[in-house]
Amino acid sequence: MPTIVHLASEMVPFSKTGGLADVVGALPVALAKQGHTVAVMVPAHRTHLHDGVPGTPVASVEELGIRGQVFAGEHQGVEVLLLDAPQVFVRPSPYAVADGDYPDNPIRFAFFVRAALRLLAQRSPIDVLHVHDWQAALAPLLLHHPATSLPWRQRPRTVLTVHNLAYQGLFPPWTLDAAALPRELFSMQHLEYFGQVSFLKGGIVAADAVTTVSPTYAREVLTPAFGCGLEGVLAQRADSLVGILNGLDTTVWDPATDPHLPTPYRVRNVLSGKRAAREAVARELGLAPGVRPLAGMVSRLVEQKGVDLLTAAIDDIVALGFDIVILGSGPRRWEELLATAERAHPGRVRVVLGFHDPLAHRIYAASDVFLMPSRFEPCGLGQLIAMRYGALPVVPPTGGLADTVVDADSPHGCGIVFSPTTSRALLAALARARHLLGTPEELARLRRNAMRRDFSWSTSARQYEALYQRLLES
Ligand code: ADP
Ligand code: GLC
Repeated sequence: MPTIVHLASEMVPFSKTGGLADVVGALPVALAKQGHTVAVMVPAHRTHLHDGVPGTPVASVEELGIRGQVFAGEHQGVEVLLLDAPQVFVRPSPYAVADGDYPDNPIRFAFFVRAALRLLAQRSPIDVLHVHDWQAALAPLLLHHPATSLPWRQRPRTVLTVHNLAYQGLFPPWTLDAAALPRELFSMQHLEYFGQVSFLKGGIVAADAVTTVSPTYAREVLTPAFGCGLEGVLAQRADSLVGILNGLDTTVWDPATDPHLPTPYRVRNVLSGKRAAREAVARELGLAPGVRPLAGMVSRLVEQKGVDLLTAAIDDIVALGFDIVILGSGPRRWEELLATAERAHPGRVRVVLGFHDPLAHRIYAASDVFLMPSRFEPCGLGQLIAMRYGALPVVPPTGGLADTVVDADSPHGCGIVFSPTTSRALLAALARARHLLGTPEELARLRRNAMRRDFSWSTSARQYEALYQRLLES
């Protein structure tokens, strides 16, 4: 059985800003359950210097003039290596504050990759190094480059998973010197992207295999509309590019055992379980009394997620009879527009800005429909969680949404699929939803279908396992 090491910036339960953390918290565990030896290395992101780092210190490292210490721990059968480096990883949040990204992000993550490679090269042989997103994407490139190569006992095969092509780690050319990257890597064949340095491109060109998080997105990224300027580079790697759908950590996301819900529930008591959650959320957030359907959203508030489409339709959605609860954070512009909508509909629209995990659980449970009008969605975990909690996702047929949500019209229906991705079509979808919610047998059928979908990680983990095997045999 191969030994696999994952390299990523986030991992549940240690840090999370989005779905990447859910995946890195669950896929390695699923691989370990299948008998592999698996480790994950992540930065020890923390907000304050006095916040502790879990685990035992096992090694020290210095790269780019930055000192770090590695703490080793364990998470459900997986070894976790947390790279603590206060100078770069003690910040209010992992990548940015409201004013924008941290200017030293390229140095922070070049340090992460360099430190990780140095530590891993000294360990017992690793068969596969699986890296995620731009923060770890330099690893396959530096691993192979003569100027940065290390005395590996056995050089691992590399896999890059692209969770979102829109986040490339794009930096000015000074990054090369600041991150001690060999100058000749600033070429079209390597890191150069329209005059800038793209960390993600470095991984795409150098990894032995590139994956993304749904089959539909794997096809979409080859087109100019979704490729973010990298469609040509990806096309060159088309033989090594595969889409593997994310799973869901069903131990974290299970309405039958969820400690954050007032009344845990499963299919047979879904009505009472969701009613209790609805009442709890109404009390917690101050929704006006009355029994109206609830449309929920838990999301980064950015254009990718269609926050502008939603804002434009909010008055009409309220007029259809929905209450709306939105939990998320994003650029000031969207936060302010949503706050204005909230003021216009007191007690009917509640917008909670920030990141609140327990409240997110309750919103999924309380919602009748889950709003996810994404313009593109590499996979999406929100719709998977919503389905498991009996909230019908309202989505356009893009990326992972197309691969996971079946429209109510089908016998296997478990959500509402609308097209094109406009405010008007979103509103029409919600009018349809309103009708379905008022038809008890139809609602029961759709909820049952949604809650019984199997999104456990084992199927996807087997596909990754097959990919590793192919690489090791080639
Ligand atoms: P993305 O990774 O693009 O942000 P996903 O749908 O893949 O979108 O995953 C988002 C994950 O982050 C889900 O687990 C969702 O519940 C969670 N999440 C997003 N925003 C918040 C928030 N403000 N508070 C709590 N959880 C959130
Ligand atoms: C990214 C994508 C999202 C995906 C998540 C985990 O954040 O935007 O669609 O579910 O990564 O792979």
